[in-house]
Amino acid sequence: MEKSRKTFTDIIDKAIAVANTMDRDELLFSYKGILYPVTFCSPEVFRAMESLEARSDDIILAGYPKSGTNWLGQILYDLVAIFEKKTQNKESSMNDEEFPYLEIGDTGKYERMNKLPSRRVMFTHLLPENLPRSIFKNNAKILLLIRNPKDVATSFYYFSNGISTLPSYEAWDDFFVAFMTKKMPWGCYLEYLSEWNKYADDKNVMTITYEELKENPVLGVKNIADFFGISLTEKELQGVVERSTFQSMKKNSQKTHGAFGKVLFRKGGVSDWKNLFSEEQNEKMDKAFEERVGGTKLGTKLKYEVYCKA
Ligand code: A3P
Repeated sequence: MEKSRKTFTDIIDKAIAVANTMDRDELLFSYKGILYPVTFCSPEVFRAMESLEARSDDIILAGYPKSGTNWLGQILYDLVAIFEKKTQNKESSMNDEEFPYLEIGDTGKYERMNKLPSRRVMFTHLLPENLPRSIFKNNAKILLLIRNPKDVATSFYYFSNGISTLPSYEAWDDFFVAFMTKKMPWGCYLEYLSEWNKYADDKNVMTITYEELKENPVLGVKNIADFFGISLTEKELQGVVERSTFQSMKKNSQKTHGAFGKVLFRKGGVSDWKNLFSEEQNEKMDKAFEERVGGTKLGTKLKYEVYCKA
């Protein structure tokens, strides 16, 4: 684990150092109509990604940036470590040597990943149509994480201003306009929800919301473990939940995430949007949400009335 976390923090530290020398308008590039940070992604790596050979026992976490992917990542790595200890008597998973986000790395990453033993864990912020086809063809299981759009926007705003790899914003109002007009890295969140909604009934896709996991982490972790076929004792379940609380992840963050941890583990709660959104912005988001995802399976699952109405 130590070695792999070093790979993780090294990649982030390097990207931050490069971004520090760049101008704001150089930080993003467009690929197939979607913006990505140049310090983490490239067209060559996107093309190389198609050579990934997915497996039916892969563990894939899909989530838009700031929906809690690092949180779910901690839970998934922990579950795999427990699974491997039970089934292979291995002390810890060695399959996390690659940067966990599928679309971030070098062009040789996918050939190396093809040689890794099962079970592999990978995270992605990509739209389903931009994932390697073998993921769907070979029936890899996908945990789809979604979070209420107002908290995603709030978290993304502070994150953009806290890390040099993303364009920063002088004012929340400017960020809000960018968020609502497809100027975000990894694309528009409402589009993300409507595209992933097409897969919401797939038996290989399980959807979980940030809010439901926050409300009942024991049940959430249990459901995730069941979905990936990992059996847990009560004690193991409690351990996974305790190690993934916001407080314990924040406490360990220097070790697990380096300097990036300070920006990442911000508040870890629900409804911070109420401190930023104006009445007009609320109306705009409510209308756009209703138009794009209202009444869909994912839209309903998000409980917009509960989490996004003042
Ligand atoms: P906030 O900015 O609202 O605090 P991602 O990992 O996808 O970048 O998402 C980051 C968001 O998840 C941040 O939200 C962060 O605080 C929150 N988060 C990280 N770990 C968490 C945990 N263990 N429990 C709850 N929220 C967590």
